[in-house]
Amino acid sequence: MPYAQVAGWGMAVPSRVVTNNDLVEMGLETSEEWIETRTGIRQRRLLAPGEATSDLAVTAAQRALEVANVHPADLDLIIVATCTPDHPVPATASLVQDRIGAGRAGATDLNAACSGFVYALSLAAGQIESARVRQVLVIGADAVSIYLDWQDRETCILFGDGAGALLLQSSEEPGILSTSLGSDGSGASLLMVSAGGSRFPTNGDALRNGDNHLVMDGRQIFRLAAQMMGKAAEKAIEASGLTTEDVNLLIPHQANGRIIEAAAKKLGLPPEKVFANLAEYGNTTAASIPIALCEAIEEGRVKPGDNIVLTSFGAGLSWGSAVIRWGLPLPVEVSSWRRWRRRLGGRWSAFRSSLRKRGRRVRSFMDRKYN
Ligand code: COA
Repeated sequence: MPYAQVAGWGMAVPSRVVTNNDLVEMGLETSEEWIETRTGIRQRRLLAPGEATSDLAVTAAQRALEVANVHPADLDLIIVATCTPDHPVPATASLVQDRIGAGRAGATDLNAACSGFVYALSLAAGQIESARVRQVLVIGADAVSIYLDWQDRETCILFGDGAGALLLQSSEEPGILSTSLGSDGSGASLLMVSAGGSRFPTNGDALRNGDNHLVMDGRQIFRLAAQMMGKAAEKAIEASGLTTEDVNLLIPHQANGRIIEAAAKKLGLPPEKVFANLAEYGNTTAASIPIALCEAIEEGRVKPGDNIVLTSFGAGLSWGSAVIRWGLPLPVEVSSWRRWRRRLGGRWSAFRSSLRKRGRRVRSFMDRKYN
């Protein structure tokens, strides 16, 4: 049975930064301090006028392909986890497929709200493990800002827009060790945008009542998220045959700093084994886990052989967790770097430092592959 390995990663966020202070200045009845101490969020990125979810998804996808040195024409499947597609029809994944030039790939969207990326990763890994496909691009991309009521201080402070992507490849080495998915639709109304679908199409009444906005029972969601993110991770860790002691890094859904702390505590993981970047981006829904993973990689928090646990909770209600053994298969580009290294022998370090001076892209590529 082939395994599914992570071979590339990429992220994209809009350039428009909105700080807590900006929200106060917009007239929201809150304070910078309240938002930061109760959520851990300092700022978020929001779509600029004219920008859409697929714009972010395309950039994240292209970066993941570049890291893996894979041509888009070699992709078999693209899954975009999103609850904020560009249009109700067609799928955003098809727009991405066209724009990146993935002419051979199937493409579909998946909606499991904030758990969407872990769901997509699980389904993509299954496709590779059953040998139906060899290369799948899994993207989490969302712009929940489109659903926010900017007068509702409980919700609008929490969310940001963004996209993250992982390229999964068929491999002989284990990569995605296990996944665990769950849902409880009896809690659907706890986090919901009620209009815009077949039950309540968006019409004049819906707009007048504000039914096109995200509504949330913050306290209940807080309690359930803290509980279920920990439980889902425990299940996935058990299914992988590991124990929490074997976990090198937890990448939780970035909803609220206090939820992350509670989930880590339930798992008995110390803060240094937990990655959080919600201060910069807020909750980016399906994009939050891949964006956090990309930043953890860029910050050198991930090494080959590490066991990484992803865990998420969101509307549905839905939750999911995945355990990844980090071990990059060597793309062609890396093999050619290796040849250079052999050829240059003792002059390798001088060659590397001259390359380092040429810019961050080369530097981070070299660091990722060789340090
Ligand atoms: N600024 C100032 N005060 C605020 C506020 C804000 N932005 N939002 C809420 N408050 C007020 C409340 O109105 C309440 O006032 P009251 O006591 O006079 O009624 C008070 O703060 C405490 O409210 P509470 O709901 O207990 O606050 P909290 O500490 O639980 O924080 C959330 C509220 C929304 C931040 C928190 O419940 C949360 O993060 N929930 C989970 C949300 C989430 O992650 N959703 C997405 C899941 S994928």
